[in-house]
Amino acid sequence: MPDFCGLELAHPIVNGSGTFDAIAARRAFGDELDAAFPFSAFVSKTITLAPREGNPPPRLWEAAGGLLNSIGLPNKGLEGYLAEDLPELARLPVPLITNVMGSTVEEVAALVEALGEREEVAAIELNVSCPNVRTGLDLGADAAELGRVLRAVRPLTATPLIVKLTPNTADVASVAAAAEEAGADAVSLINTLRGMAMQPGRAGRPWLGARTGGLSGPAVRHVALAQVAAVASRVAVPVVGMGGVTSGRDALELLHAGATLVAVGTESFRDPAAGRRISGELSELAANRPFVSEV
Ligand code: SIN
Repeated sequence: MPDFCGLELAHPIVNGSGTFDAIAARRAFGDELDAAFPFSAFVSKTITLAPREGNPPPRLWEAAGGLLNSIGLPNKGLEGYLAEDLPELARLPVPLITNVMGSTVEEVAALVEALGEREEVAAIELNVSCPNVRTGLDLGADAAELGRVLRAVRPLTATPLIVKLTPNTADVASVAAAAEEAGADAVSLINTLRGMAMQPGRAGRPWLGARTGGLSGPAVRHVALAQVAAVASRVAVPVVGMGGVTSGRDALELLHAGATLVAVGTESFRDPAAGRRISGELSELAANRPFVSEV
């Protein structure tokens, strides 16, 4: 049973933010969902202070071995989340991690303060890595800037803070170390890799409405492994590893690279029950291989 920031989780598989709609799943499956919930903790889609509509369409492109998205963090804002989504998400049978993004230090502080007061929220994940929005804060790629923001918000709550890191930087381990030094309780990575697709037959015209997007899925798995290994060898706080996981074997490789938990993302779009299958495969691998029995 992994211990993650003081939470005792039933297994190491969680969801990547924004890749599993637990409220829609409950509407579809009712109480059956609770009996077979695919993840040991649930990470919400990113919440911002004010509501956002997201990016102009098209927002998706199917890439070779992956998915390019430029969704742009559409959400109902903090007030809408607290009033409408939090009561629903608090009924899930697993701890809730709320993911937030702010465009200024003040916005991040307001989000952390408001969510830190809610006992339904077991941990807060700070999204400093979405490639699809311009925030004015270049947090995720700049260790000094990230440290400055975290030092400002850390004293505002005792709730564990997880920092979601970007792979779109030259030295992710240094950014992770800065997050740890400024008080992060955990780090998670990788978010998507910035990418572009061209309109078929229209020379030089990008397909996505926002021109660029973030690449996820099996195409990024080996990038994720390298970055998780680099970060895990640099920091002492727990690491949530993600990027292209489609099987228990993939999850095990991230655990062996130093992750404490593994998040399943794009695979849940193909198969919403993938998290359950992957955690089952992982237990089977652990049962058959005594040296991985800790998973
Ligand atoms: C999005 O809504 O643009 C995807 C979320 C992310 O990349 O953080």
